[in-house]
Amino acid sequence: MPSKTLDEILEGRRSQPNQLIEVLQDVQKDYRYISKEAMQAVSQGLGVPVIEVYRVASFYKAFRLKPAGKHVLTMCTGTACHVRASSLLIDQAVNQLGVKPGDVTGDGLFSIRQVNCLGACALGPIVAENGSYHHHMTPAKLRKLIESLRPQETEETKYAQA
Ligand code: FES
Repeated sequence: MPSKTLDEILEGRRSQPNQLIEVLQDVQKDYRYISKEAMQAVSQGLGVPVIEVYRVASFYKAFRLKPAGKHVLTMCTGTACHVRASSLLIDQAVNQLGVKPGDVTGDGLFSIRQVNCLGACALGPIVAENGSYHHHMTPAKLRKLIESLRPQETEETKYAQA
């Protein structure tokens, strides 16, 4: 659930086209991605043509134009990570979560992204979870990380599902 409405994000920045990137960052932070509706609201709010908002949002890899999970696992497939078997990490995440890179799990908790470099090649293979870096990753460490991010099942929910 976003903590701010689009109007609140735009507050104090209306008709200021130079605020475009900052506003898009705030939209993504709160909504986890930048929807078509958000682009239209940003366009009207800042007085920037919607095509320009789309151009900027689609140019920068940091912006997502599709919904993402609560936990975004960014997997590096760059050369330095690749030679340290980063493909095994992608296999682990895909098998454990049951989704392909770019998709969101049915419960909305996880999504997987692939990037070419996270800028920490010497520490690879790297997996970032919502921007928090995990270095020298192995499939076993990744399995534990994913398990630790799942909400704990309580006795109550266990009985409710039985
Ligand atoms: S190649 Fe993976 S962090 Fe640079």
